[in-house]
Amino acid sequence: MIQEFNHIETVNGQLSLPGDKSISHRALIFSALAKGKSIISNLSSAQDVNSTQEILHNCGIHFTSEQSKILVFGKGIWGLNRPQKILYAGNSGTTARLLSGLLPMQKFDSVISGDESLSKRPMKRVSQPLIKMGAKITLTDDNYLPLQIGKSNNLKAISYELDIPSAQVKSAILIAGLFLEDETQVIENVDTRNHTEVMLSLPVKKNDHQTIISSSIKYAPVPQEYFVPSDISTASFFIVLTLLLKNSSLLIKNCSLNPSRTGILKVLKQMGANIEILNNFISSGEVYGDILVKSSNLVNIEIDSNIIPNIIDEIPILTIAGIFADGNFKINGAKELRVKESDRIKSIVTNIQKLGLNIEEHEDGFSVFGNIQNKSVLFESFGDHRIAMAFSILSLILEQGGKINNFECIKISNPQFIEQLNQIIG
Ligand code: S3P
Repeated sequence: MIQEFNHIETVNGQLSLPGDKSISHRALIFSALAKGKSIISNLSSAQDVNSTQEILHNCGIHFTSEQSKILVFGKGIWGLNRPQKILYAGNSGTTARLLSGLLPMQKFDSVISGDESLSKRPMKRVSQPLIKMGAKITLTDDNYLPLQIGKSNNLKAISYELDIPSAQVKSAILIAGLFLEDETQVIENVDTRNHTEVMLSLPVKKNDHQTIISSSIKYAPVPQEYFVPSDISTASFFIVLTLLLKNSSLLIKNCSLNPSRTGILKVLKQMGANIEILNNFISSGEVYGDILVKSSNLVNIEIDSNIIPNIIDEIPILTIAGIFADGNFKINGAKELRVKESDRIKSIVTNIQKLGLNIEEHEDGFSVFGNIQNKSVLFESFGDHRIAMAFSILSLILEQGGKINNFECIKISNPQFIEQLNQIIG
């Protein structure tokens, strides 16, 4: 489906956005592993989160809803049932990778599959450490899904230094560690999002260069009430839109402010963005609060490559901010973009070329120069929700608007994107 966007002048008002996708996946998984009833409020409506819930349901976990809350009847760490079908993770890397940590520890075999995009994303990064723990996992010859999991009797704790900064890999290992008496350790040289350790209250040690996180059966989840704060990655699209339009102001309520995710706010503020945090609350260890954003004149800066894992999902929308900021926009050290829902470097480069801007592609990033030449453009989503939404925001700013091909993929993270936009368009 092609979605058309007309140019808008301002946005104003406030938004309450659905729950954070990363926290929602974990709230579902940890509730399923806890013995008893957990309650989740503001669970994400993303299709990806639905994939996690559906798999847990196929493993015998019962869910009901009450008002806007989800009740999860967890069965304890070894309580899952053998699924009667292949477990389909859809487009969701987080579902496939986090559940890869959980399923090999069960007393049954299972298979995880995914859609076309997920079936081309690297899985060895997660199977390799799990196989070291004794998990029986096989992938295709190219190391892709489907992931076949067998029963294993010889599971053991490991200490594993991540060679790729990936919260999904870290989480898979730490989740597997919850089934073992001995302590499993994950060593990070570059920090990645820390929801797993925060939500499970895992011990974390930091020295000058590394973060070491441990897990063991002592930290197996117990039933809880989770409030999932709004998704900062979703909020970023609306934040950049507000910054780039004149006479605009937007309050985003109860948004996740976990420091391992707020790199986008830090970078935008360094670029001159008028962004204020109005208050701070905590639920299940996760910090959240309200974000007030106002129209700003942005200037491009040198983006430190150490912050890349913190802003990895926001690079498409940050690029849109960068196009309109003074100076040239440049990203380096972001090779991981090549293995997201699409090759995001290619996707961004292709769409930006359609604007007539000059863009130089590198293996781990890109640099944008020049001025927008072509004013009415049909952008391609490449079936990637964050590319579709980033170029929707750009279309709203372009004088003659713009169109997005294959727009329906936005449902992967935010099915209500258009309704939310309509709430704030002046
Ligand atoms: C996620 C981690 C990140 C991120 C993804 C969600 C998570 O991936 O890009 O959208 O919830 O752990 P990597 O950890 O593979 O970089």
